[in-house]
Amino acid sequence: MPELRLEELSAKNIVAANTLTLKPGQEQFIAPVSYSMASPFIDPSTNWSRVVVDEDDEVVAFLMANFDYDAQEPEFRSCIWRMNVAADAQGRGVGRFAVESTADEARKRQFTQLTVIWEPGDDGPEAFFLRVGFTVVGQTQYGEHIGSMDL
Ligand SMILES: CC(C)(COP(=O)(O)OP(=O)(O)OC[C@H]1O[C@@H](n2cnc3c(N)ncnc32)[C@H](O)[C@@H]1OP(=O)(O)O)[C@@H](O)C(=O)NCCC(=O)NCCS
Repeated sequence: MPELRLEELSAKNIVAANTLTLKPGQEQFIAPVSYSMASPFIDPSTNWSRVVVDEDDEVVAFLMANFDYDAQEPEFRSCIWRMNVAADAQGRGVGRFAVESTADEARKRQFTQLTVIWEPGDDGPEAFFLRVGFTVVGQTQYGEHIGSMDL
């Protein structure tokens, strides 16, 4: 596994974070409908965003989580909101590192669960999320899967 570290989102890395290229067919899985619908009601101050940087100082992933003890829906209280790994960095453990880092941050904030919502489908992230420790605990009204991991 490459040497990876987290960096806060900053002027230095935000362009790289915004221009990560995914593999063909993956773009449709970036933002599940439930997140788009909930976005206006999410308090920006509860947002935790980071980039993952590799040993060559390249930005290889972007991740965003929401940590809000008071969110009305339980699945939005401690949850991965975005996770994109650059196409040429996929399959090397970057996604696993991003999930584990987010789980660490959630633990620090005293959460006992981490959740994520994804759309099932070919080219989607379901197999990845199940592999790194999430189990499907429900479905949204849009048919997306709600995954949860005990911390
Ligand atoms: C899903 C995504 C984050 C995975 O990142 P990644 O860096 O390629 O994943 P990793 O290399 O860390 O894989 C971790 C494990 O999951 C497995 N895995 C990853 N993708 C998989 C797939 N499509 N099918 C089966 N297993 C998969 C790996 O084999 C690995 O298993 P191992 O640790 O036992 O060897 C990445 O493909 C991505 O950014 N996709 C596009 C955007 C997206 O769908 N984001 C999620 C929306 S919330």
